[in-house]
Amino acid sequence: MSELPAIEGGKPTRSSPLRFRPWITDEDINLVAEVLRSGQLSAIGGRWNTLLEQELSKYLGTKHAVTVSNGTTALHVALKAVGVGPGDEVITTPFTFAASATTILHANAIPIFADIDRETLNIDPASIEGAITDRTKAIIVVHLAGYPAEMDEIMKIANERGGLYVIEDTAQALGGAIYRGGGWLVR
Ligand SMILES: Cc1ncc(COP(=O)(O)O)c(C=O)c1O
Repeated sequence: MSELPAIEGGKPTRSSPLRFRPWITDEDINLVAEVLRSGQLSAIGGRWNTLLEQELSKYLGTKHAVTVSNGTTALHVALKAVGVGPGDEVITTPFTFAASATTILHANAIPIFADIDRETLNIDPASIEGAITDRTKAIIVVHLAGYPAEMDEIMKIANERGGLYVIEDTAQALGGAIYRGGGWLVR
């Protein structure tokens, strides 16, 4: 290595700090204000929740969309929905937000970490194969920073191993990417 990283005294590659902001438009702000002004903040007696679920399922091309309070709850609900419980193993990635693994514990199951791919930083399908045991019930795949994981390979492994459940954690990727030129919208 001829050059040191900036943190060790090398030449910095940029002068300004990285600044990422969520992309929020005036239309988004106005719509949120409209919902708040309506006073209808729950699905009971309010129309906004149902409207969001309908629009989401249309956008994602799914039969159903169910909204919950946040990403952590969504993962917990998904694990419970597929029957994950005490003694079950759920394979996931170690390189993610904590909730991808803590929700497995919350379901009284055991998180098993597969390795990640050094190019995509997403879970490595080959490593998933090596982590499967008789107790494996599901796989939580994370599309990190909007970058799609290798879903074709992962679904193939899950199907070949007796129909393991695959839960996609899209907290960082809802609508964020098209997989292999359009076949699979990350959802
Ligand atoms: C990959 C991933 N999964 C799950 C979550 C949890 O989402 P929430 O903070 O909405 O509970 C996050 C939050 O950043 C996340 O990045």
